[in-house]
Amino acid sequence: MSNSKRLGVIFDLDGVIVDTAKHHFVAWQQLAQSQGWSFTLEDNEQLKGVSRVRSLELILQWNKTQIEPAVFDRLLTEKNERYLSLIADMDPSEQLPDVQRVLQVFKDRCCGIALGSASKNARPILDKIELTPYFDVIVDGTNVSKAKPDPEVFLQAANQLGIDPNNCVVFEDAIAGIQAAKSAGMRAYGIGDPEQLTEADRVFNDFTELDNTFIEQHIIGR
Ligand code: BG6
Ligand code: MG
Repeated sequence: MSNSKRLGVIFDLDGVIVDTAKHHFVAWQQLAQSQGWSFTLEDNEQLKGVSRVRSLELILQWNKTQIEPAVFDRLLTEKNERYLSLIADMDPSEQLPDVQRVLQVFKDRCCGIALGSASKNARPILDKIELTPYFDVIVDGTNVSKAKPDPEVFLQAANQLGIDPNNCVVFEDAIAGIQAAKSAGMRAYGIGDPEQLTEADRVFNDFTELDNTFIEQHIIGR
């Protein structure tokens, strides 16, 4: 298969490969409590796919609070330390259902496989859940300057795979991620709620709904 026809498959991490939203929630909530701010589960929903810096900006905005840049940086570090302690014991049991089967199908068919994540913790998380070897390319929050919905993360992934963006598909759980994929000229598959991910080309509740025949016929054999 020539590279111009080869399929690139780009996976978001949080909420697609591993359920980290619950750990991000606890870490932000502990931080908010320590500062006397409010932070609810509904607020957490709005932070899916959103960078760490932007998340804190939003929490401050919701709480009508302003802080000094030095305090902002300290709180970001504190949040991440809380998050890292929550995921310290993460293991392969935290892979979301059927992720490994889906990765294996694409691997067996020699597709280019990339990670396109906003997280700066993506590499250690992939290591902990033992999925790193599936990925030809990893682009994460340490590599990009513009957050989703900007397409930078996915365009970088396609570029590093050496595959035209039009021949790439993206799996995403966040609205901003779906928008980023569409702006990159890629097909976007949503993982989650179809009522939320209205801009996706197709939405699956999770990977158990994506069977091998669909992958072969509609994704690889498109
Ligand atoms: C995204 C998550 O993937 O990564 C967000 O959906 C998170 O909730 C963002 O804030 C940044 O993650 P990290 O690990 O760099 O704080
Ligand atoms: Mg996500």
